[in-house]
Amino acid sequence: MLPLATAIELIHTASLVHDDILDQSKIRRGVSTANVKYGPQIAVLLGDYLFAKAFQLVAENHYGDEVSLVLSKLVKNLCIGEISQDRSLFQVPSLTKYYDKINLKTAVFLASCCRLGGIVAELNDRETDSLTTYGVNLGLAFQIVDDLLDFFGDSNMTGKALGGDLKSGVITLPVLRALQVSDKSELLREIVTRNNVSDADIIGAIDIIKKSDALDYCKSRAYAHIAAAIINLPPSISESTNFMLDKIADFVVNRNW
Ligand code: FPP
Ligand code: MG
Repeated sequence: MLPLATAIELIHTASLVHDDILDQSKIRRGVSTANVKYGPQIAVLLGDYLFAKAFQLVAENHYGDEVSLVLSKLVKNLCIGEISQDRSLFQVPSLTKYYDKINLKTAVFLASCCRLGGIVAELNDRETDSLTTYGVNLGLAFQIVDDLLDFFGDSNMTGKALGGDLKSGVITLPVLRALQVSDKSELLREIVTRNNVSDADIIGAIDIIKKSDALDYCKSRAYAHIAAAIINLPPSISESTNFMLDKIADFVVNRNW
């Protein structure tokens, strides 16, 4: 399991190094992003290096075609998710479009991690599918909470600047909810769809979102996905594994970083 888990972590890190170039993010995990520290040329190559190292580990450990297929489809989906996000910046998505995007950029990732665990542990097809459904729902909850933390988090805890999504034109679930229920939704729509907003506008938009019920609404959606995740844990997995997967689900929705 360990080399495969390492490969997945390397792919994840590679995707974040590249994501920070795309999003022009300055801080990741409380320190300067590779893009800021070394410039975009080196950051692109660093991401490529980590990505290649991941596939080297997979090849060296002979996991076989099925594992390689899950991993390559995962990376393809991540790229499709990022491209579709980039093409729809500063546009208000429908709820379905929002879900499509978080599915591709995050849920597919956690689903693939779970699927690979099932394959390597030689679970049967039905159990591997259930574990994958656990991963999809865990991923959806994770991204909804991530999108919430962008407004309601503490940047000292998240290690990222607040309001980053709005600044880069990524319109997420808290905004969609506030647009639906706030009496200032016209003003909010005007701010979030305008390229080049000032910091004062961002603060104004965050204030409108905070005064709506977006926090409770998004949390309850995230909790629903966690419930769907837990219900899909295959009955045959050991009690201690079940306990850990349950704990992970609880952490994802209750975390503040
Ligand atoms: C973070 O999203 C980014 C992702 C979940 C995926 C990024 C994927 C790519 C750049 C393509 C894949 C590339 C390789 C090399 C595998 P976010 O911006 O919402 O999260 P953040 O707030 O943590 O930045
Ligand atoms: Mg980002």
